[in-house]
This record gives sequence, C-alpha cells and structure tokens, in this order.
Amino acid sequence: MSRQTALADLEQEIAAPGGGPDRLRLVGTPFVPEVRLYLAEDAILWWARMEAAAGRSLPPPYWASVWAGGQALARHLLDHPELAAGRRVLDLGAGSGLVAIAAALAGADQVIANDIDPYAVAAVTVNARANRVRVTADGADLLDGVTGADLLVAGDALYDAGLAARVLPYLRRCAAHGVQVLVGDPDRGHLPPDGLELVASYPVPTTEPSVDSPVRRVQVLRPR
Ligand SMILES: C[S@@+](CC[C@H](N)C(=O)[O-])C[C@H]1O[C@@H](n2cnc3c(N)ncnc32)[C@H](O)[C@@H]1O
Repeated sequence: MSRQTALADLEQEIAAPGGGPDRLRLVGTPFVPEVRLYLAEDAILWWARMEAAAGRSLPPPYWASVWAGGQALARHLLDHPELAAGRRVLDLGAGSGLVAIAAALAGADQVIANDIDPYAVAAVTVNARANRVRVTADGADLLDGVTGADLLVAGDALYDAGLAARVLPYLRRCAAHGVQVLVGDPDRGHLPPDGLELVASYPVPTTEPSVDSPVRRVQVLRPR
C-alpha cells in the first residue's frame, strides 16, 4: 500500500455522502477541543468495511480513534506551549496526528509526524489540513536511529510488549543525545519499573471498551 493510495482512499471516504458508525467524521477531540480530527465512531466497523472493499487485510486503523495517551500529551503541549514553541518536534507513532497538530498549534517551528502505517500517514495529512497547520507526515521506521528533533513526543506508543521493547531503548537513546522526550501513557502494562519520571497526570475521557470508567488517568513522563 503506497501512501498516495492511502491518501486517495481517505480523501474519497471523507468526500463520500452519507453517514453511520463506520464512516469518518470531523469531530472535536474530547480532552483537546482545540483540535478536530477525522475519526470513525466505530473504528472496527470502518476497518471491516475497508478490508471487504479491498479484498485483503489492512493494518488496524489506530489512527481512526483518539487514544488516551495522545490526548494527555496534546493537552500538556497546549497548556505549556513553551515546550514546543520555536522547536523541531517529532511525534512518534503519530496515529491521527493529534500530538503533532497540538505541537504545531503551540508554535513549533517544524513538526514531523511519524507512523509506519500508510493510512496513519494519510490521516496526519488530512487532519493537519483540517486544523490549518503544517505537519510533515513520515512513514519510515525510525526506531533504530536517533532523531535530530529538539523534542520527541510519543502518545500511547507503549501499547504492546514488542513495540515497547523497541520504543523504550529509542527514547532513552534520543534522550542521551540531548533530545527532550515526553511520553503520554495510561499504563497499558508495558511501562518500565524505573527510568521514567512523572511530569504531569491528566484525567482523560475514554470510550475504550476495556475500561469500565469514563475517565482514564494518564501520565506524562520523561526519562530520568
Ligand atoms: C496506539 S496508536 C497511538 C496514536 C497517537 N499517538 C495517539 O495517541 O492518538 C500507536 C501508533 O504507533 C504506530 N506504530 C507502530 N509501530 C511503529 C513504529 N515502528 N514506528 C512508528 N509508529 C509505529 C501505529 O501504527 C499506531 O498508529
């Protein structure tokens, strides 16, 4: 799947008439109302319909939902704009691009939103456009290198053990090279026992089926 094909698919989805829980709609982000995103009311239904139309499997559309970790981090950047203002920012595992867009709204000089899913790269493009900000969408796997950004933000990028095992060393390596690193995480069970310290904590509204409370406590953390 090329990023051009993914972008054409999303643009067609957005422009198509009609509605329903399996469609993309431009909606306000509950904890970050400054940002509007194209999201699916039911991302699983959207995924099933797109796979049926494509006749093959597609990556899970993580970009079609708003994640608690990203919401907390985006809120933190907008409430503390000095963190991003005038700086080069990398949003790792950007999904919809929520955190990248918040960084741009906070006055970042340059924002790169990185995600290996071509549909996420496309979602970043349409969402940045909808919020009238400049964000560069990047689909490379960066985890074996070191970023040249000043600030590295990662919202809900520790959602599975295999990915956490690559992301955590990347964050530490970047921090050791002088990059400021901020992680937004609702503790999905892959936080290291030490090495990260608490910066802030937010009660984030969530509709995740696995959570029985309408609010999830999310930490913003940085390497020690
Ligand atoms: C749980 S989503 C979080 C999205 C967004 N940051 C938020 O908080 O709303 C995690 C994202 O990480 C992306 N991802 C997985 N492996 C990756 C990798 N090696 N490099 C960059 N992104 C990756 C997935 O495609 C997914 O979009």
